[in-house]
Amino acid sequence: MIIREGSLNLEILKGFEKGPGARGDGFYNREMQTSRDFTVSILKIIGRGNALDSMAGTGIRGLRIALEAGWNVVVNDINKKNVEIIERNANENNINVEIWNKNFFSAVSEKKWDYIDIDPYGSPSGFIEAAIFNLKNNGIIGVTMTDTANLEGKSLKKGFRIYGGISQRGIYSRELATRIFLGYILKRGASLGYGGTPLLVIREKHYIRAFVRFKKGSGVSDKILEKIHESTVDEKKVGPLYMGELYNKEVISSIDKNGLSTNSIKLLERFWNEDLMFLFFTNSRGTEELNMDMIINKLRENGFKAGKTNFYEKGIKTNASQDEFKNIIYNL
Ligand SMILES: C[S@@+](CC[C@H](N)C(=O)[O-])C[C@H]1O[C@@H](n2cnc3c(N)ncnc32)[C@H](O)[C@@H]1O
Repeated sequence: MIIREGSLNLEILKGFEKGPGARGDGFYNREMQTSRDFTVSILKIIGRGNALDSMAGTGIRGLRIALEAGWNVVVNDINKKNVEIIERNANENNINVEIWNKNFFSAVSEKKWDYIDIDPYGSPSGFIEAAIFNLKNNGIIGVTMTDTANLEGKSLKKGFRIYGGISQRGIYSRELATRIFLGYILKRGASLGYGGTPLLVIREKHYIRAFVRFKKGSGVSDKILEKIHESTVDEKKVGPLYMGELYNKEVISSIDKNGLSTNSIKLLERFWNEDLMFLFFTNSRGTEELNMDMIINKLRENGFKAGKTNFYEKGIKTNASQDEFKNIIYNL
């Protein structure tokens, strides 16, 4: 059947109409549209170059990057059947892209890239270094990790083994996982002599999606390493994790809201709050739960910046200190 995503008419196989469907031929997950919308949005802002959609499935992401952002794209997948689907999707939409049927590692090392997209099933840990190594100076990687349970759920030990950071379950797990994952990516870059700067990160549903730009040079790499260290949460050690800014203000202020879904717009508006503090306060006052908007408005009336976070539904980010926050909620 043919569905519509972004500006594309996309052929998908039976079984992929709604949710993720099974891994295998023609894999397509509608749930990841937000991640693809932001990929296109960022590449529209960055300016054109050459991109590798290294694990393309139906080709949806790479084809949208070519059609909507105007980049020169190579759309690659290891699965022969997927390559046939990608060819049909490119033809159906009259999109001029190169289509490859290679293993990630041979595709990525063919040339130097301005953008490499890594979107595997599960953990991307084995692919990140090779991608960074094959970027042009100031190139960007967009990477998805769907093994969030390893940093947020039952298997924290496995998360430590893969990503090298101690996480925690509970209300802070999503932010901790995101920062440990970013720390992991940035350390891989530093080991190759690249200083990474996160442009934007999404933590929603079952996945984390990070966009990081890499600049060559030992000075920039050393500088970024200073932002990756351990911390303490609820009297327990966490990390090492990335404690720097998660969002590049220029990027998030340039994103065109036209064409973004309501969900993407909600996420985007909250991106502005995430760097106000590490973690967040909650709407609890003792055993009571206060109205979120009431707290946020009061903080703003008192001259603070404040807003909701994507990391926890009842979380509030602000530049007020803990004492200032307490003072405000106990006087509401
Ligand atoms: C999660 S799907 C990609 C979904 C797609 N990017 C999208 O946005 O709809 C993962 C894809 O990676 C491909 N893949 C897995 N391992 C690969 C490898 N080593 N090299 C290239 N492609 C690979 C699979 O065939 C599959 O199509």
